[in-house]
Amino acid sequence: MLKKRHLLIPLACLVLFIFIKYTIEFGNDLNDQSPIECLFCNIAHGKITPPKLEFENDEYVIFKDKNPAATYHYLAIPKQHFDSLKVLNESHVGLVERMKNGMIRFLESKNVSIENAVIGFHIPPFISQKHLHLHGISPKSEMDLSNRINFFIPSFWFKSADDAIESLKHADL
Ligand SMILES: *[C@@H]1O[C@H](CO)[C@@H](O)[C@H](O)[C@H]1NC(C)=O
Ligand SMILES: *[C@@H]1O[C@H](CO)[C@@H](O)[C@H](O)[C@H]1NC(C)=O
Ligand SMILES: [Zn+2]
Ligand SMILES: [Zn+2]
Repeated sequence: MLKKRHLLIPLACLVLFIFIKYTIEFGNDLNDQSPIECLFCNIAHGKITPPKLEFENDEYVIFKDKNPAATYHYLAIPKQHFDSLKVLNESHVGLVERMKNGMIRFLESKNVSIENAVIGFHIPPFISQKHLHLHGISPKSEMDLSNRINFFIPSFWFKSADDAIESLKHADL
């Protein structure tokens, strides 16, 4: 009993920290963001540079995160606009799998250790951009405390790509 209570306060602080971080830092960006004005749509269609696109195919692009949490921190975003994981369903399993595999191949092409990588999605409302984006970060060991919390798996604000795929298959996102 005592142990549980001791955990409750740090846990509550952590949740508050995450919540405040996102609602304050990014809350404004999330209002009334139509796909036409969407920053990531413009990046995905090469209308805005930087960032330089590191990889591109018909379906998605990969580029370096503006605020890298480690030496290697990339985002894979689909060319088609989706607000977040929440709007996806079973029909998008293939897309998410291809984005995940694409991110892995991309990191491998840079000789980045996949065992030491974090590959996953933020879950609304904890998203920095209202356009689906997959994070690929390595090595984990370089991440500071704030980033370890921000990209913590499993949590209700961040989901591994594998968990996201499983959830989509079972329609319980
Ligand atoms: C899945 O979402 C798409 C829109 O992205 C929609 O057209 C389709 O009907 C949905 N399918 C199911 C099974 O809900
Ligand atoms: C990755 O490693 C291979 C073999 O060690 C090397 O030939 C290649 O140049 C490396 N690639 C990068 C991007 O560092
Ligand atoms: Zn968009
Ligand atoms: Zn994110």
